Amino acid sequence: MKIKKVEDSKTVMTELVLSSHVNGSGRLFGGQLMAWMDIAGAICARRHCQCTVVTASATDLNFYLPAVPNDLIVITSEIESVGNTSMKVRITVEVEEFSKRETRRKKTCSALFTYVAIDENGVKHTVPRLKK
Ligand SMILES: CC(C)(COP(=O)(O)OP(=O)(O)OC[C@H]1O[C@@H](n2cnc3c(N)ncnc32)[C@H](O)[C@@H]1OP(=O)(O)O)[C@@H](O)C(=O)NCCC(=O)NCCS
Repeated sequence: MKIKKVEDSKTVMTELVLSSHVNGSGRLFGGQLMAWMDIAGAICARRHCQCTVVTASATDLNFYLPAVPNDLIVITSEIESVGNTSMKVRITVEVEEFSKRETRRKKTCSALFTYVAIDENGVKHTVPRLKK
């Protein structure tokens, strides 16, 4: 059985908040952020298992700070644990408030996503062990 490290699949994804991403209050729409988080998490899970993955769940989702147009959103995803066919991915989101000329990053959101590995026929299959 293959063994992989957390660093082998760690993913950092940066997005720019556009006016098309905001809700009626002018803040980044939470559903848009969750879509970006799901993509960053799926890339991390795919890098770990080297195959197609599906999202099984999103839990422990918390929004701490808003983001507005011109802010940068930095999404980091790391494998937290693996089961037989599933992978839990911890996702942390930080905001760089470019709109306020602020380059320090602040934690704006976090969540735990679970992905399941499937083969080309959609059948679940085992994933590499995780070396901590
Ligand atoms: C996720 C899915 C593959 C699980 O299939 P299933 O036959 O019910 O799977 P099982 O009960 O045998 O569980 C398989 C693994 O998934 C885990 N799992 C299943 N549902 C889960 C959930 N809601 N949350 C966390 N883990 C879950 C199980 O713990 C198990 O992990 P393990 O193999 O590491 O022990 C299936 O429900 C599915 O295809 N869901 C739709 C996925 C989808 O369309 N996502 C959105 C677009 S990608």
